[in-house]
Amino acid sequence: MNLGILISGRGSNLEAILAASSEGRLHARPRIVISNRAGAGGLALAARRGVPTAVVAHGDFARREDFDQALVDALRAHDVDTVALAGFDRLVTPQLLDAFPHRVVNVHPALLPAFPGLHAQRQALEYGAKVTGVTIHLVDEQMDHGPILAQAAVPVLDGDTEETLSARILEQEHRLYPLALQMLTRSPLQIEGRRVQGGISSP
Ligand code: GAR
Repeated sequence: MNLGILISGRGSNLEAILAASSEGRLHARPRIVISNRAGAGGLALAARRGVPTAVVAHGDFARREDFDQALVDALRAHDVDTVALAGFDRLVTPQLLDAFPHRVVNVHPALLPAFPGLHAQRQALEYGAKVTGVTIHLVDEQMDHGPILAQAAVPVLDGDTEETLSARILEQEHRLYPLALQMLTRSPLQIEGRRVQGGISSP
C-alpha cells in the first residue's frame, strides 16, 4: 500500500503512522506527506524520517476543486493509492474522493456520529458525555461522516479539562489509526450501505 498523508498541524497521528510503518506493524510505504500550511510541525517530523514532503497551500487556489486537483496531482506523482488525513483541516471534494475511491481515511476525536466538526473534545465535555472516543472512517463528501472502520471508547473523567481529555483520546488515536489503515492492506473492504465488515471495535 502506497500511502499519502495529508496534514495541517503538529502531526502526532502522522508520527504514529510513520512509526507503525517503520516497525512493520503497518504494511504500507509512506510516499509523500502534504501540508496545506507551510508552518505545520508534521513536515519536519516527516523529513526527519526521510519521507518526502510538499506544501500545497489552499490559499493559492480560488476553488476547492482546484486545490484538491493539485493534491491529486502531487499524490499521483508519488504513486499513492491510499490517502490518510491526519489533522487535515480542509473539507475534501469529489475531485479527491473520486481519484481514490474508498481509499481516503480520516481520524476524528469522538465517537461519530456524536460531536462532528471542530473541538470534538470540548463538545463532549460541554455536553456532559461520560464516554467519548476515537473514530477512524472512510471519507465522503460530508464532514466526519463516511463509513466507520474502527472506534475506541475513552471515558470522560470528573475534573477533565479539554487538555486532559484530548491527551487521553490522542493515545487511542495513535493506537487505532495504524490498525485501521492495516485493514486496507488486506483483501478489498466489504461495504454494505454504510457498514464495513470486519471493522475494529475496541473498548
Ligand atoms: C487530532 O486530534 C485529530 O483527531 C483531529 O485533529 C488532531 C490532529 O492532531 N482531527 C479532527 O478533529 C478532524 N475533525 P495531530 O496533528 O497531532 O495528528
